[in-house]
Amino acid sequence: MINWLKDAVFYEIYPQSFKDTNGDGIGDLNGIIEKLDYIRDLGANALWINPCFDSPFMDAGYDVRDYKKVAPRYGTNEDLIRLFEEAHKKGIKVLLDLVPGHTSDQHPWFLESKKAEENEYSGRYVWTTHAFEGIGGHPYISGMSERAGAYMLNFFASQPALNYGWLNRTEHWMSAPDSPEALATQEAMKDVMRFWMDRGCDGFRVDMADSLVKNDDENKSATAAVWRSVREMMDRDYPQCALVSEWSNPWQAINGGGFHMDFYLDHHGNGYNTLLRDYETGGEDRSFFKKDSGGDIMRFLNDYLPRYEATRENGYISMFTCNHDTPRPARTLSEDEMKLFCAFLLTMPGVPFIYYGDEIGMRYLDVKTKEGGYQRTGSRTPMQWDHTRNYGFSDGDPADLYLPQDERKEAPTAEDAMKRPDSLWHVIQELIRIRRTYPDLQADGSFETVYAESGKYPFVYRRGDMIMAVNPSGQEVTVRSVQFSGRSPLYTIGKASVHDDLLTIDTQSFVILR
Ligand code: NOJ
Repeated sequence: MINWLKDAVFYEIYPQSFKDTNGDGIGDLNGIIEKLDYIRDLGANALWINPCFDSPFMDAGYDVRDYKKVAPRYGTNEDLIRLFEEAHKKGIKVLLDLVPGHTSDQHPWFLESKKAEENEYSGRYVWTTHAFEGIGGHPYISGMSERAGAYMLNFFASQPALNYGWLNRTEHWMSAPDSPEALATQEAMKDVMRFWMDRGCDGFRVDMADSLVKNDDENKSATAAVWRSVREMMDRDYPQCALVSEWSNPWQAINGGGFHMDFYLDHHGNGYNTLLRDYETGGEDRSFFKKDSGGDIMRFLNDYLPRYEATRENGYISMFTCNHDTPRPARTLSEDEMKLFCAFLLTMPGVPFIYYGDEIGMRYLDVKTKEGGYQRTGSRTPMQWDHTRNYGFSDGDPADLYLPQDERKEAPTAEDAMKRPDSLWHVIQELIRIRRTYPDLQADGSFETVYAESGKYPFVYRRGDMIMAVNPSGQEVTVRSVQFSGRSPLYTIGKASVHDDLLTIDTQSFVILR
């Protein structure tokens, strides 16, 4: 396993919205470089940057037009290389976002692939052989090219699916996963990865990693085989570079595909979702960290523990505060509720991710869709740094900002959060410091449940020599365990005390016992 992942805490940056240094209203790479000290002071030591490559931005950059060129609105390749260098000087790793399953329909490969004459890229995407023949059960487009055929879509209409082959083939035009054209796609993607790793990047977050080979089996074994071959390349040539998958099935992604980490995504009703987003819009909120929601920690544990047990020897599960596709936690959680969730996130096994702005409790805003964001757009608004023009995000014209900002007087800013000693920002900073001090709390430390009961509080868990207890409810609660004897609080949010084997933990409190 890669050593630096053990105490890694990631910070996700949506580059459009982090920091604009040239006044055009859109964040840029120089802005990220300018804010590296802020990220380091918070305690994060790794970044995931959403796609920053040349793109028509029909899906916020997940529609890549040139994998090897930084989008001019963010800067140049030299700026990105400088970002790697400056980050490394401060002990910060940088993961880029790899979108291997599709390109933009403006990518030169696709423009060639659309041509009637056979060429090097004819087999780079999934095509049928007649304009009148669709792709049963899958979205496709036909009638838009001189080439006779329909092409498959991976996501939006502007994102044609790259061809990694089909495992179960029912039509003559379906390539095998080991066909020359499918292998050529794999090689082209490895070439992109090498290009950036050779220039100093520390690995990739991989978009829709589970969806490469079509009609795969239920274990996604053909897609996993593609990733194993990528992992072989990395172990051989870039052994310090890491891969994290957007897959949300660690057994398939980590054990099967060889990913170092797999995201536990917010899917309604899964374990992660029951912690902080267990609501349908307008419906009752049953999230565990929501005060007095009647939340149930067993709904998390029953889903999480089998995933954790099955993969703990091989890689890490990554939980996050939020990401660019997910409603910000502050949509429903108060600052106190967020503190308890972050305390949990930062003391659990695996590698945690913090989404920019969550450390100050930025809100989910009701804004018009931008670049294919739709309801995701509300989590993508510009960072609120301070009380200068545009909250210090940009000195450009407010009308030019990538997205509107929180207009309320009480809108949080990083400056205010850093000044207030009891802010969420300081809780996160202190917990990262503790995590870094005690290896038991890091990614690969052990995990055991000490007390967890359906519908009851607190939730108590042990990691090596440390015991954590969290009580998000509105009542003081007590619990007995011989494991508490002789221990005392190392860190507390709210109030908690131990007498012999009895732990008393106040409403909305968290404690680390040692
Ligand atoms: C997942 C990404 O996180 C999302 O933002 C994007 O729209 C889709 N994949 C398609 O690439």
